Amino acid sequence: MIYSRIEGSGRHLPEKILTNHDLEKLVDTSDEWIKTRTGVERRHIASKDQATSDLGIEAAKKAIIDANISKEDIDLIVLGTTTPDYVFPNTATLIQEGLGIHGCPAFSLEAACSGFVYALSTADKFVRSGSSKCALVIGAEVMTKLIDWEDRSTCVLFGDGAGALILKPSEEQGIIDCKLGADGKYKDLLWYPAGVSKNFDKLGGNLTNLEMSGNDVFKVAVKTLGNVAEDTLNQNNINKDELDWLVPHQANLRIIQATAKRLELPMNKVILTVHDHGNTSSASIPMAFDVGVKDGRIQRGQLILMEAFGGGFTWGSVLMRY
Ligand code: ACO
Repeated sequence: MIYSRIEGSGRHLPEKILTNHDLEKLVDTSDEWIKTRTGVERRHIASKDQATSDLGIEAAKKAIIDANISKEDIDLIVLGTTTPDYVFPNTATLIQEGLGIHGCPAFSLEAACSGFVYALSTADKFVRSGSSKCALVIGAEVMTKLIDWEDRSTCVLFGDGAGALILKPSEEQGIIDCKLGADGKYKDLLWYPAGVSKNFDKLGGNLTNLEMSGNDVFKVAVKTLGNVAEDTLNQNNINKDELDWLVPHQANLRIIQATAKRLELPMNKVILTVHDHGNTSSASIPMAFDVGVKDGRIQRGQLILMEAFGGGFTWGSVLMRY
């Protein structure tokens, strides 16, 4: 049996850091409120001319070095993003161009904060089927460009960044199972109400803002993530105590704690970056994974569960041995 297996990873964060104390000067908020309600302490902010592709290219370069491959080996690029550079061409092709590789398929998926698990799940199918021998999977976002910096209920939550993984076929166990889900009936609870074919005149430039019913998102997220995590383990006959690491989407510390509790997992088995990165949407899982690998906590052969939840709503999980 052929599995897809992670050969390397990388992350890239913009230089500029905005702390909770910096935000206290912009809106009526406090470090204490933000930390207690979300776990976020600081976030990285892309500069005016720094695009999603710029962050994705840097993360990809690091993943390529980490995997010890040549960029010419890459035969597939899948990007999860909610904040593409342009309407078209899709941002994965811009990353391809930035890496100096040509010809392989490159496409972007949009599933809000679940974008990376959707992208990883898609690339996994290509690798397992033999269609790809070396896939580059990226989550990259500049969420702060969608933010109204006068709205304290949303501007404290988000940050920018990119994470990338290299996937290759292996006879050793790698990705074991991917589960994806969505339910559009919740579309109005978390959305950016402008796009190409609706309210185009309001797109960008702070003419509109990300809208979120925080409490409702919180409740559905906790329930859905708990269900998808438990179902993934049960359907693969894995006991909760066999799991080495949970690598969750980093939206809110309290949502992460609730999922860990449902899995009976102590918090020292959860990779947390929400305090340093904020919610970076599709970028949060690959960046958290890279943090865990690079600081030596995540080891080869360990059992890992990634899980994400985002606007739509969309959700998903990836169970793997690293
Ligand atoms: N600073 C100080 N006070 C604030 C702030 C702030 N930044 N923001 C809101 N408040 C106030 C509110 O006005 C409210 O005041 P009131 O009681 O006088 O009316 C009070 O704090 C409580 O507000 P709630 O919204 O009830 O606070 P809650 O405990 O629900 O926390 C939060 C809000 C952090 C947004 C929480 O609901 C949450 O994390 N929800 C999930 C959000 C999420 O995960 N979104 C991302 C999903 S993934 C994606 O696809 C983007």
